[in-house]
Amino acid sequence: MTLMHLRLRSAALVPLLLLLAAPVTAQRRAPTPAGAGARMNAFVDSLLARMTVQEKLGQLTQLPGPMRPEDVPLIKAGRLGSYLNVNGAAAMREVQRVAVEQSRLKVPLLFGHDVIHGYRTVFPVPLAEASSWDPALVEATARMAAEEATAAGIDWTFAPMVDIARDPRWGRIVEGSGEDPYLGSVLAAARVRGFQGRDLADSTAMMATVKHFGAYGGAEGGRDYNTVDVSERTLRETYLPPYRAGVAAGAGSVMASFNEIAGVPSHANRWLLTDVLRGEWHFDGMVVSDWAGIAEMVAHGRAATEAEAGRLALDAGVDMDMSDSVYLAKMTAGYGVSGPSRAALDEAVRRVLRAKYRLGLFRDPYRGTSPAREQAATLTPAHLALARESARRSMVLLKNGGGVLPLRRDLASLAVIGALADDSASMIGPWGGMGQAADVVTMLQGIRRAVSPQTHVVYAPGAAVLGSDTSGFAAAEQAARGADAVVLVVGESAGMSGEASSRAELGLPGVQQQLADRILATGKPVVVLLANGRPLAIPELAATAPAILETWFLGVQAGTAVADVLFGDVAPGGKLPVTFPRTVGQVPLYYNHKSTGRPADASNHYTSKYLDVDWTPLFPFGHGLSYTTFAYGPLRLSATSMGVSDTLVARVDVSNSGSRAGDEVVQLYIQDEDASITRPVKELRGFSRIALAPGQTRTVSFRLTADDLSFWGPAMKRIVEPGFFRVYAGTSSEQVQEARFELKAAPRH
Ligand code: BGC
Repeated sequence: MTLMHLRLRSAALVPLLLLLAAPVTAQRRAPTPAGAGARMNAFVDSLLARMTVQEKLGQLTQLPGPMRPEDVPLIKAGRLGSYLNVNGAAAMREVQRVAVEQSRLKVPLLFGHDVIHGYRTVFPVPLAEASSWDPALVEATARMAAEEATAAGIDWTFAPMVDIARDPRWGRIVEGSGEDPYLGSVLAAARVRGFQGRDLADSTAMMATVKHFGAYGGAEGGRDYNTVDVSERTLRETYLPPYRAGVAAGAGSVMASFNEIAGVPSHANRWLLTDVLRGEWHFDGMVVSDWAGIAEMVAHGRAATEAEAGRLALDAGVDMDMSDSVYLAKMTAGYGVSGPSRAALDEAVRRVLRAKYRLGLFRDPYRGTSPAREQAATLTPAHLALARESARRSMVLLKNGGGVLPLRRDLASLAVIGALADDSASMIGPWGGMGQAADVVTMLQGIRRAVSPQTHVVYAPGAAVLGSDTSGFAAAEQAARGADAVVLVVGESAGMSGEASSRAELGLPGVQQQLADRILATGKPVVVLLANGRPLAIPELAATAPAILETWFLGVQAGTAVADVLFGDVAPGGKLPVTFPRTVGQVPLYYNHKSTGRPADASNHYTSKYLDVDWTPLFPFGHGLSYTTFAYGPLRLSATSMGVSDTLVARVDVSNSGSRAGDEVVQLYIQDEDASITRPVKELRGFSRIALAPGQTRTVSFRLTADDLSFWGPAMKRIVEPGFFRVYAGTSSEQVQEARFELKAAPRH
């Protein structure tokens, strides 16, 4: 069930407390064959032996592109190892030629870029894709992104971003997979596999970066770059699993995060970057700094000078210095001549050279790119088809009162309202790679193309996303009154989430709520489409709008896919990967919380809740409807007890009880009833997205092992404890069937 496989030990000595050895990295990249590994190491060592300290520091230096005239002497002197943001095969070839033809040691440059959810063909933002609960889809879009980006000269992406985020104020929640460590881990591994393909040496393989290590999503107040202070337990239970899963899937690099944890900026966190990452997880790739993250340790107050910051970072385990040239410019004088720092420098250079070797850059520094290959690989019909498919599968139907959706495509008239309906740039979302607004099918365009020839589509923006201008309300209201149905698109523009885009309020920005009130007051059937990069607190809208479809930012095929769902060609089947609060005051609000000694109870004042707002979410984690309905049979367990080396099978029959085909994401949660460390009220341990025809029933099975029941014990070792567990299976984290079993202690030997 989980990514970790456990080896049991010491059971005889500690019968009720099973200490579990470090999980084996089951999905790790196939190890380099011994001979090939030795050849690589010999090659790298001989190159290293010929390098000056300046050239070594150069290998650790990455500059932002495009190449400036003053960079050329640096490249010729072997004092640059990598670029980010040199885009296009022609530009890449030109820059690479300087390195491999005009430098002394002819070491190729490594080209990185933020290929987060597509390169030119932009797929749904990661939070949207996470809503698909479909790892195969996520892997497929990452693969296609890699095919496109590598053709344009990119060797290395700064993705996947796997930061667990429980605070929707934090704008970067849009870049990840939401709040859950299990879902986040499965999708982290899928993205790494997709980006890297089967073999890094393949010309379409793009080295992945698991980021931002670590716990960047724990920023206080949801304010980007802010301080993080979490216990080692919460770090290990909640934040670390997706990074670890990405590493286990073979990610070639890891990026340090901007934040500090308990007083230690990540770029100086040797425990995290070396002891945990390399010691415990056996990571043998390359660690890259975040943009100027080394120099920023002066502002953090951790280093007095940039030179000191550089020494701290190198000794902590940061190999490549992104953008600030601290290693190159501030550490040359007297640095690295002897002692442990010299060893750290050499080891960092080895890691960079090994990454280049594994990517095949020493064989072909251009990795087969050419403008012709780039053109042939860009925005192909297959890429656009996958963009449409992934967008369809990423939408979440939050509400569908009275079956307003799907709409008939032969309505006499349809009003489309909201600035976002025709906002092509916003559909790309944050971190749009090389995506272009001109490539986007807007929602309005998609709807216009999909309706019958007789349908009259009237568009009225009503109001901008931001600002207080209500002068467009009257026209929008008039359009709504004259139509048979209304599609109202509200939410955030792309720039309102992503880096440095935190919000203190979670409602609809500007006057959009007022616009919605006016349109809903017309009494027409209104379908609300949300476009946004974070959970929104929209209790009024949720109470009054008949139907709400969460679309996030769906990429270049947004409008086509939205029309596919609006008019019922496909039923929405996504589920929320993150909780929607009723108000920002409830934040952080997440499904896998602890019980407390006084769990919320409406009939008891002295329990954990609020005076002024319900304690429950507006929409819970895992929630999402379809155009059909699903009926769950009872949850059946293969046994009422299991031993630590047994497998328990949980089965549930799921039927399509409605009249349309649809997808259901069947979710499995566990709860440890009592343990030496309190456990969350529910923890996701499995899920399966299944397609069901009307009347069809399928039995969905989940296998549970001791691994799924294990946790970080009092001594911060992975353990399983005997006792009773509950298992829940259902359509969301709240609507579930329940069963119970006992985990029996191992027999004494
Ligand atoms: C972001 C990273 C990104 C890097 C390079 C930084 O500001 O935090 O996520 O990879 O820039 O663009």
